[in-house]
Amino acid sequence: MSSSTDHDTPLTIDQIDPNHLHEYRRPVAGERRSPCPGLNTLANHGYLPRSGSDLTLTQLITALQEVYHLSLPLALLLSLTGLLLCGHGIFPRRLHLDSLAAHNKIEHNASLVHTDAPPHARFAPTRVDTGLLHSLLTVYSPRGHGFGLREFAAARRARESILARPLDALHEEIACAEGAMTWLVMRDETSGEVPVESMRVWYGEERLPAGYSRPTQPVGLTETRRRVKVIKEAKANGQTEPAMMPPVRPAPTFASR
Ligand code: HEM
Repeated sequence: MSSSTDHDTPLTIDQIDPNHLHEYRRPVAGERRSPCPGLNTLANHGYLPRSGSDLTLTQLITALQEVYHLSLPLALLLSLTGLLLCGHGIFPRRLHLDSLAAHNKIEHNASLVHTDAPPHARFAPTRVDTGLLHSLLTVYSPRGHGFGLREFAAARRARESILARPLDALHEEIACAEGAMTWLVMRDETSGEVPVESMRVWYGEERLPAGYSRPTQPVGLTETRRRVKVIKEAKANGQTEPAMMPPVRPAPTFASR
């Protein structure tokens, strides 16, 4: 693996993984996964232990920097939050990926590709809901163009519009941050959009898209907060072209954890 320094040229996945040690493998029975496409993808490629068990702070930070080019402060913030809220041990030092599904800790309802936690359930589903994924990909890219911040805002607005109880402020912020970070790490830097195929592969298969290049510049807290603000404002103001999109509902078949 290359080191996770602040390269300012795009690194393709072949450069990040020159010896092809990180091929994609679907999880097998007993391997834990979370509701997070970002972390599941890292485990499915072996940048995090494929078992998804007992992850350490160092493993999380290294993988987030290496593959998605997150800055150290952002990688540290995300990893510490995960460990402190969902980890295990006395001072939680280890994290099982499936513990991140603990409902209403970091996890929240109105996810883009996961159904809500069933009433009174302690854990939310970690499996991708194919109906939600299909709607996300078809409704928000009707002209075949990719996902900009506006599309993420539109998708969030539609998912949140059918909640019986709105998300609290913290979880609304987290939900917008997921869209912002997707845009920051998965977009094509020329078009400024996340290609629909990347959305399908990364959200749906939890796999790095073919030819993935990580962001040229490290993705930091400031950039992320700026994009969260854009999504929140567009969502609140209804600036969510394409206009008049129907609420996206999950498929009738319930994908269990
Ligand atoms: C240690 C770092 C991370 C932790 C602890 C974490 C945790 C989580 C959790 C608990 C969820 C479930 C939220 C929900 O209810 O939808 C989630 C979802 C998500 N995460 Fe992460 N995450 C991390 C890193 C990342 C990174 C680096 C990205 C993007 C590059 C990312 C993108 C997403 C997205 C897009 C979702 C939403 C999936 C959906 O809407 O169905 N995460 N993450």
